[in-house]
Amino acid sequence: MLPAHIGIIMDGNGRWAEKQGKPRLYGHRAGTEVAKKTVLAARDRGVEYLTLFAFSTENWKRPVAEVQGLFLLMEEFFRNESSELARSGAKLNIIGDRSRLPWPVRSVVSGAEKITAGGSRITVNVALNYGGRWDVVSATRQIAEDVAQGRIDMSDIGEDLVSSRLATSGQPNPDLIIRTGGESRISNFMLWQAAYSEIYVMDILWPDFRAEDLDEAIEFFQSRSRRYGGLESGPHDGRGERG
Ligand code: IPE
Ligand code: IPE
Ligand code: MG
Repeated sequence: MLPAHIGIIMDGNGRWAEKQGKPRLYGHRAGTEVAKKTVLAARDRGVEYLTLFAFSTENWKRPVAEVQGLFLLMEEFFRNESSELARSGAKLNIIGDRSRLPWPVRSVVSGAEKITAGGSRITVNVALNYGGRWDVVSATRQIAEDVAQGRIDMSDIGEDLVSSRLATSGQPNPDLIIRTGGESRISNFMLWQAAYSEIYVMDILWPDFRAEDLDEAIEFFQSRSRRYGGLESGPHDGRGERG
């Protein structure tokens, strides 16, 4: 089966640039181009949801020049690419805490969401100033407000309700999470939604990621047996995990 939702932690832009003696932003620019190509490749393969982790709530710790450069790049990306993405059937959905984003970025991402609203082939979540903990805190706040206002009762709070207040409300959880750049960590990406995601770490640096690498990750996913804590083997199980 194809993963319905793939999340990508696009890591390694800085190292890619530094290896060539170039400034880190050069790597971020190359990474943006790869992100666009990956959207098209995922769409061609029939993936319905793609989440691209572009800026984490912790990335503010970087030097201000890098942060500003990243936001300028994103502004440019959404301004220049939204129409083409719309034509290609992509629907952009920005997830994350927008309140801290520079105003021009907020405005251009809202425009990009409007332009691509009709996209029906693939939904692309761009995680911008996103953190899994932020997502859970923001859901908690909404739920507390609903309880305080008497719109829901405490006894209504369960996994489905929490899921419905997360940034990915109405979407399947990521089946597969790819992390480039070789680090085996989640770095605050979709903490709730990743409970049963298959995680594939690749050494390749993000600007070098190609459609073939996406295929490799999908093949990895297809070779896994997802048991969700139970004992049932998936159709591709050949590992004898089952007694
Ligand atoms: C990922 O690449 C992009 C962002 C976090 C914005 P990095 O900038 O983290 O690249 P490395 O990990 O330093 O190589
Ligand atoms: C994760 O990469 C965040 C994004 C890709 C946007 P980082 O480079 O920020 O993660 P750490 O610092 O290595 O954990
Ligand atoms: Mg990194």
